[in-house]
Amino acid sequence: MSKQFDVVVIGGGPGGYIAAIRAAQLGFNVACIDEWKNAKGGPALGGTCTNVGCIPSKALLQSSEHFEHAGHGFADHGINVSGLSLDIGKMLARKDQVVKQNNDGITYLFKKNKIASFHGRGSFVKAAEGGYEIKVAGAAEETIVGKHIIVATGSNARALPGAAFDEENILSNDGALRMGAVPKKLALIGSGVIGLEMGSVWRRLGSEVTVLEALPTFLGAVDEQIAKEAKKAFDKQGLKIELGVKVGEIKSGKKGVSIAWTNAKGEAQTLDVDKLIVSIGRVPNTIGLNPEAVGLALDERGAINVDGDCKTNLPNVWAIGDVVRGPMLAHKAEEEGVAVAERIAGQHGHVNFNTVPWVIYTHPEIAWVGQTEQQLKAEGRAYKAGTFPFLANGRARALGDTTGMVKFLADATTDEILGVHMVGPQVSELISEAVVAMEFKASAEDIARICHAHPSLSEATKEAALAVDKRTLNF
Ligand code: FAD
Ligand code: NAI
Repeated sequence: MSKQFDVVVIGGGPGGYIAAIRAAQLGFNVACIDEWKNAKGGPALGGTCTNVGCIPSKALLQSSEHFEHAGHGFADHGINVSGLSLDIGKMLARKDQVVKQNNDGITYLFKKNKIASFHGRGSFVKAAEGGYEIKVAGAAEETIVGKHIIVATGSNARALPGAAFDEENILSNDGALRMGAVPKKLALIGSGVIGLEMGSVWRRLGSEVTVLEALPTFLGAVDEQIAKEAKKAFDKQGLKIELGVKVGEIKSGKKGVSIAWTNAKGEAQTLDVDKLIVSIGRVPNTIGLNPEAVGLALDERGAINVDGDCKTNLPNVWAIGDVVRGPMLAHKAEEEGVAVAERIAGQHGHVNFNTVPWVIYTHPEIAWVGQTEQQLKAEGRAYKAGTFPFLANGRARALGDTTGMVKFLADATTDEILGVHMVGPQVSELISEAVVAMEFKASAEDIARICHAHPSLSEATKEAALAVDKRTLNF
């Protein structure tokens, strides 16, 4: 007799493990199947985010930023550093330790919430009495039955045709996070989020970095004014970003990688580098899930088809996170996981896609929530804009980190906040205030009237809200 569960979650990334925890909190008998293996072949809960995504990239961003500050930033503070050197092995080991702490944290949370954890690949077998039969293929093979199934199988890096990932020369996010030596020359294809974050890490550690981007505009999804400001900062740092390119043949050999490409003027170019990171987006992952066995419908991109509530075409089968439509972000996956668990319990779980924040953890950081100025213009919506530069913020001056600005967009009539866009120091944290404000349908004036601590970077948020009404106090 197969083990029977109220809820079986397939995938233990941020979508899946959070869904499992919330379902267990709601009193369900829950199993979570995840196939990720650590270096020793054991389980490593947390998915892409914990193992080869959000967490290790932020660990390396932090380490490389320290290195850059020690080499180039401390002198301004009267701190002279000599004999600075890099122990890349130690830096990577620290990153691995941070990953392990997060893996272990989730294992602990599963025990605490009495979630049955299965290590192996989960695949649909058939609809069965009491739900769906799921095969778990791990060290041993077994079949379990779930009344409700939540698919949270995530995504994989998209490869360029003719340039498969070997993780030696041609790297996905996985190889990009564990290069054992700093490449002298590094190319990235795609100047999206991974391109900029990984390009920043390796540039700070000493690589000569070139980023080749197909689109003629830089960070097209970001508010234009903010993207322009960020591009200026990256140019100054020496991150070479080529826009409007067409990538041709890629040859990989013992000496590295040779990339044929055409620049925006249509001129043929060749770029020879030691390593290439391909960061041109990610594809939903249903490898080995066997959706056909139960007739689970996918869309033309290979994502699992879901409605606004994460319901699939099958009764009691749900899908969340990177394997469905919407932004591929860990916090979006988590919110969907909570909402689905609550819907299974008959509650009214809800995800507000209009207030999902985005953060790019470069230096300066870029963060936003809501609509951009170009979107409002395209919609023909009447709006007011207010900006405030970090150059005029006391805390930013004290930090020696004055690049960037905060920008508010508010409805011209009601003053409701429609979007908040930031580029500058620690804006990954500052954006939360804007998310809360938008969730509560605040006006720009609401933020402008709130007391913000002095001196703090958050005063730039208040001042940008004041700027909507053209009454900044410090600029
Ligand atoms: P995943 O995290 O991909 O987890 C899916 C899990 O399911 C994996 O463990 C996989 O092994 C397992 N699995 C798949 N198929 C099966 C199966 N059949 N049986 C059993 N297990 C299976 N997002 C942010 O919000 N902030 C960031 O800073 C950020 N940084 C990133 C940096 C990088 C380099 C990358 C690549 C991504 C980053 N992301 C970031 C995106 C984020 O990692 C994803 O949006 C998030 O991990 C999606 O969560 P998920 O649960 O849907 O899937
Ligand atoms: P992306 O979608 O952010 O960027 C891909 C870029 O590659 C785009 O600018 C696109 O125009 C370009 N591109 C596509 N095909 C190309 C080609 N043939 N030649 C040249 N350029 C090409 O994807 P990325 O950076 O791979 O990241 C995947 C996803 O992971 C992100 O969209 C995001 O959802 C998530 N992520 C989130 C992070 C965060 O929240 N801080 C960090 C890293 C990843």
